[in-house]
Amino acid sequence: MQIVLYLVYLVASVLFIFGIKKLGSPKTARQGNQLASLGMFLAIVVTLLDHRVLTFEWIIIGLVIGSAIGVIMALKVEMTGMPQMVGLLNGFGGGASALVALAEYYNLLSHHNVVNQVAGVGGPEVSTLVTIILSILIGSITFMGSFIAFGKLQGFVTGAVVKYPGQHAINALLILLVLGGGVLFVMDFAQPELVLGIVGVSLILGVLLVLPIGGADMPVAVSLLNSYSGIAASMTGFVLNNNMLIIAGALVGASGIILTLIMCRGMNRSLMNVLLGGWDSAGSGGTGESSGSTPQGDVKSVDSEELAMIFDAASSVIIIPGYGMAVAQAQHAVRDLTNILEKKGIQVRFAIHPVAGRMPGHMNVLLAEAQVSYDKLFALEDINDDFNNTDVAFIVGANDVVNPAARHDKSSPIYGMPILNADYAKTVIMNKRSMNAGYAGIQNEIFYYPNTLMYFGDAKDAISKLNNELKEL
Ligand code: TAP
Repeated sequence: MQIVLYLVYLVASVLFIFGIKKLGSPKTARQGNQLASLGMFLAIVVTLLDHRVLTFEWIIIGLVIGSAIGVIMALKVEMTGMPQMVGLLNGFGGGASALVALAEYYNLLSHHNVVNQVAGVGGPEVSTLVTIILSILIGSITFMGSFIAFGKLQGFVTGAVVKYPGQHAINALLILLVLGGGVLFVMDFAQPELVLGIVGVSLILGVLLVLPIGGADMPVAVSLLNSYSGIAASMTGFVLNNNMLIIAGALVGASGIILTLIMCRGMNRSLMNVLLGGWDSAGSGGTGESSGSTPQGDVKSVDSEELAMIFDAASSVIIIPGYGMAVAQAQHAVRDLTNILEKKGIQVRFAIHPVAGRMPGHMNVLLAEAQVSYDKLFALEDINDDFNNTDVAFIVGANDVVNPAARHDKSSPIYGMPILNADYAKTVIMNKRSMNAGYAGIQNEIFYYPNTLMYFGDAKDAISKLNNELKEL
């Protein structure tokens, strides 16, 4: 039986790896998800059939309740609520790992007490104790940290960057405290009070480490917590001597950290900058009070009728979607615009910045929902050189990702961030509601460029108006 168990675990691990690989492209992502789900299903079934499972009652009750809640949540959640949901699920993952490690600890403890009474010797291996305490520590931090992240995104915990005197010293002290406690635990594990103390301090650390992070930086924090939940699961795998859990946890841990770093690179920020509170203005949607020079000049605006004529005369258009498209839910109007332009023989492509919107793949998901074909979507590096030969760059609710200050203004908080070269197109059309700044809280000099025309209005309404005008031409 044991050999079958290991073989199925191996197959499941391979399915996970292929599943993740296929998630790399929108074309194969659905299939990747199905492969990974099949892997998880096999892993669960074979684990349940393992002879060490003594009774199925509680497992079945848990499975039914958990699955029902999962299905309802997944069906009900809005696309914009996805980061919260992922945050919450990470928290449950971390909490589960910590609870399993705690249960295993109490098992060891009672076994040790019995053995001690009989023979006066024995004790678990150091490696088991280390993984138990790491699983409890990381799992508890992940649980509480994810809960705070969820609260910030949902709005019941302040989204502001929380800073207070002695913050870093307090965090450092608490980290030293849990690590010191961990060492004492490994030296003498028969101290349940110490373990509960470590759980308590880890939970407090979870709150204190996530609280300083600004609400708008939460997607990065959620991705990092996702990685933590994987590491906690992997540690629990070592505790239980379960290879599947070790592998699955390691995959989550590694992919979470890679995604975190991709997000940081896309914003040209260090992970430390995000974790320590980052931009005070982040997410404020302010009007440029943060550092960076304030651009000035004349702004030219355009109405839907004039804009329709500009589009009608173009032969190539690149659409740059951003956070505003998500807010306005304008993806369907954008799809209609694409169809109208293509019927007129105009080439339409989409330029997708890696951190456009507020979560990884935000724009891809919205455009896929509106049935915009994947082959029209291009990553920054694949399309950036084409703006020079493009008639119209149409920016829909994007701002920071097209701010040319990132190229040359060393005082700008986004200096060095890779941006889409929209300003290199012959005409730049910028659709947004006002002159307000985007996520980074800085003004965008592209508004004042001689080849830029501002098309003010809510993206959905404004693009619907444009579509009507274009149809009449
Ligand atoms: P932003 O720079 O945030 O700009 C969005 C713009 O959309 C705003 O300037 C806003 O201007 C406009 N807008 C809002 N509602 C609108 C509506 N209903 N209709 C039309 N326009 C509307 O967006 P971006 O260019 O996508 O950049 C993303 C930013 O988020 C980057 O700074 C990135 O670093 C950050 N970030 C991204 C992620 C990920 S993973 N994607 C995670 C964390 C942070 P008005 O108010 O004038 O309309």
